[in-house]
Amino acid sequence: MCGIVGYVGGRDAAPIILDGLGRLEYRGYDSAGLAVQNGGGVQIRRDVGKLANLRATVARNPVDGHIGIGHTRWATHGVPAERNAHPHISMNGDFVLVHNGIVENYLPLKEELLRDGVTFTSETDTEVIVHLIEKYAQQADDEESIVEAVREAVARLTGAHAIVVLPTRRPHLLIAIRIGNAGGVAVGLGDGENFIASDIPAILEHTRRIIYLEHRHMAVIRADTTTITTLDGAMIKPQVHHIAFDAVSAAKGEFKHFMQKEIFEQARGITDTLAGRVDREHAQIVLHDLNLTPEHAASINRVVSVACGTSYYSALVGKFYLEKLARVAVEVEYGSEYRYRDPLLTPGTAVLAITQSGETVDTLAAMEHARANGSTVWSIVNSIGSQAMRLADGFIPMNVGPEIGVASTKTFTASIVDQYLLALTLGEARGVLTAALRRQYVEDLARLPDILGRVIQLDDEIRLLSGSLYGFRDFLFLGRGIQYPIALEGALKLKEISYIHAEGYPAGEMKHGPIALIDADMPVVAIALQDALYDKMISQIEQVKARGGRVIAIATEGDATIASKADHVLYLPACPPLLSPVMTVLPMQLLAYHIAVWRGTDVDQPRNLAKSVTVE
Ligand code: M6R
Repeated sequence: MCGIVGYVGGRDAAPIILDGLGRLEYRGYDSAGLAVQNGGGVQIRRDVGKLANLRATVARNPVDGHIGIGHTRWATHGVPAERNAHPHISMNGDFVLVHNGIVENYLPLKEELLRDGVTFTSETDTEVIVHLIEKYAQQADDEESIVEAVREAVARLTGAHAIVVLPTRRPHLLIAIRIGNAGGVAVGLGDGENFIASDIPAILEHTRRIIYLEHRHMAVIRADTTTITTLDGAMIKPQVHHIAFDAVSAAKGEFKHFMQKEIFEQARGITDTLAGRVDREHAQIVLHDLNLTPEHAASINRVVSVACGTSYYSALVGKFYLEKLARVAVEVEYGSEYRYRDPLLTPGTAVLAITQSGETVDTLAAMEHARANGSTVWSIVNSIGSQAMRLADGFIPMNVGPEIGVASTKTFTASIVDQYLLALTLGEARGVLTAALRRQYVEDLARLPDILGRVIQLDDEIRLLSGSLYGFRDFLFLGRGIQYPIALEGALKLKEISYIHAEGYPAGEMKHGPIALIDADMPVVAIALQDALYDKMISQIEQVKARGGRVIAIATEGDATIASKADHVLYLPACPPLLSPVMTVLPMQLLAYHIAVWRGTDVDQPRNLAKSVTVE
């Protein structure tokens, strides 16, 4: 949450910072600000609301200089308001600073600073950091002692932080610090210029050479040098990563919204996530980055999947794969709950983190717990170079390109497919899959892109259907078996982007309570494919209809019965049952998308949300 950008070099800093913030706006859009310095001093511009407001402010009142920092905020302490926007400045103006994270002990620190005579101008926790730095830097008269003062100040903070400091008395120097998992700090190395960003898309246009700051590392960055130390001052020789990046996939192209584009590119996404991993001829799966020997794979007898939000629902689908194809026991846990008990991690347990951003703090904490307890830790992750990739013993990159829409879509389907690949790998290593079955499952995978390509053609029908649905206040989504997680995901998508209350429910549980809610004012979306649970789904649809409910059914092409049971039927092609969640989620995503568009909400940046959740 929150996005940070920094620049030092020979170019005009403001456009670089604003463009970078534009690529990080998915991380927060409550307010934005920048500080740029030249020989005449530091110039700060801040505005509440989206980045467009800050751009307009800067256009009206330009800034000029070759060094600067910027921030886009997701509010935690203090309402979205200009006074709470970053950058924050110290009382004497010697330091400006941007921050991502929460200063958990900010109240006692604030009291201490108030006693010292400091005046606060915001309600944020962040402001204590900049005043603390100034306090420790009172005697600092050279760069070394300024850096030391920053070290002393951050040593007082508890919590997780990403911080960038601009010491205004040394306006050719930026200091970046990472403590814990507060959203990452990447340093981009240029020629005669250097960059800082919370996430690499913000700076990849300028450089592909990236250093990721590790926990308790500090970078002192000038135009021509970057020095990395620990917070104790020990020198670090950093690893420089060379990043490949497809700029086209980060652009909206012909689509109205990123979410729409990302829904549409799922057929390609599946092809991309399978690329180089499936040897159809020999029915073999190759997961290079998992670093898994057949012996190690064979020793795994339990998987604990940890994730949040949409990624959690993906893990619920993955449980079906790992249990059926690999015969491994699976528990699926919310990252945010897992860390607050004392979970049992037996030998032979692998903890599998699923995370688009690779920066979700709760998921990372679960990974750290697993690692500390000696478990194998894997991740399925989309953001290249993110913490979840680096913390894991092995990982499966989703490889679907940046996902910009705050509501996850293409990474949901890709991560499901990646779990299928993992299950096939473990199934083979554990000797529980015959060659013939493996071949069948691999062949099923190869059909998926074509199936998704056909489903996406329902777009116009769903757009029109949404026109008759967008006025309702409540929705119920029903599914059974492997479709239950899809009912949950359908409800989450609708809530997130249209602000309509929706619940996902296992259809068989409806009669145990939610049936009391059924009336003509609560549309029910029911997934009723012609699979093993079809008859049971039909009887649940009958129960809804008997109580005057309105049913939108997701059914299989050629089903001659269902049209007489439901008010509207969306027909999907036949699909291998295990892979059908990858297909059935598409109409759910399109329904949420079109309903949101009809309602005029901000589809790509829905209120109160942020793309990566780096605070608890
Ligand atoms: O980056 P992650 O996959 O770890 O994010 C987890 C959730 O925050 C995320 O899936 C969230 O629920 C999305 N807004 C869903 O659309």
